[in-house]
Amino acid sequence: MRVEVVLTETDIAQEFTEAMEARDLPEKFFYWFPRSVKEWEALAANPELYGGLAETWGRMTGYAEAMTHHFAGQIPVISFGAGDGTRDRMLMDALKNAGRECAYFPVDASQAMLERACAAADDDDIEVVGIKADISSPVHMVFAADAAEAPRLLVFSGNTMGAFDPLAQIRYVAQCMKTGDRLIVDGELFDEVKTTARRDHPAARRFLWSLLASVGISDADGELRINAKHDERHAGLHLNTRYFRADRDISVTVMGKEMPMERGERIGLNFQYSYTPEAFRWLVQEQGGLQILREHESSDGRFLTAVCSK
Ligand SMILES: C[S@@+](CC[C@H](N)C(=O)[O-])C[C@H]1O[C@@H](n2cnc3c(N)ncnc32)[C@H](O)[C@@H]1O
Repeated sequence: MRVEVVLTETDIAQEFTEAMEARDLPEKFFYWFPRSVKEWEALAANPELYGGLAETWGRMTGYAEAMTHHFAGQIPVISFGAGDGTRDRMLMDALKNAGRECAYFPVDASQAMLERACAAADDDDIEVVGIKADISSPVHMVFAADAAEAPRLLVFSGNTMGAFDPLAQIRYVAQCMKTGDRLIVDGELFDEVKTTARRDHPAARRFLWSLLASVGISDADGELRINAKHDERHAGLHLNTRYFRADRDISVTVMGKEMPMERGERIGLNFQYSYTPEAFRWLVQEQGGLQILREHESSDGRFLTAVCSK
């Protein structure tokens, strides 16, 4: 298994300590601990929450060959925040069945996720090189995209863009794109009731608690709260923020270092954007400067997936 490392484990451990001290934990850390990875896999496999997206990707496999028919030879597939690569493999297996060969580059901050994506691609006889990098860094993004010559098939799925500032993130992805490249990007569609309710689903809560449990915080120490907000920069940009609030004085151990937390103190957890269809299209077309070639709304109405070109 080959993994190119731009973001080291030492970097992540240092950043995690600093993030805990600042009481603000971004998305990257939620896939770092083994317990979190296990809970993410359970969450991602939950048909109630992700069945619609899986169905979209099933439909897109029928279009994979047409999407890449202008690619000569091997098709490089570069997936930003690839996770275990389940969706990417659906597409690559369809391309393989159509007689095309892929070279796969899963990009992720989580070593455990990369190992899963690389091992599964190996099992499917797909040439694979993992890239351990931070996709919130435009420099890391360009490094990852340069793993192969254009045209490339770029993937940004599972509402991964929504865990960052999407206005900045779509520009970082667009900056990596060259003529002939295709990008598959999705966003979660906002629903007044369901969007917040999905964050409150037991599987989603278990996923969040798994990170806190990894530093010794349990539900006896406090509670998880979810807020719904608007991003005033554009109509139709919604976000859910989450935080842990200590109900008593506690002591957290981070990388062997004791960190006391007083009753009432909070730790900000990863946020997630959702959009109206118009706001998602505005992001891709106006902020990213990309052209939408095709759109797929998931059968449960939760995700809108766009196939784009520069
Ligand atoms: C919501 S999951 C989506 C996984 C996959 N794309 C899918 O559709 O199932 C987000 C993925 O992005 C990765 N990730 C989160 N923050 C990251 C960062 N700053 N740099 C690189 N990867 C990151 C996580 O480790 C995780 O695998």
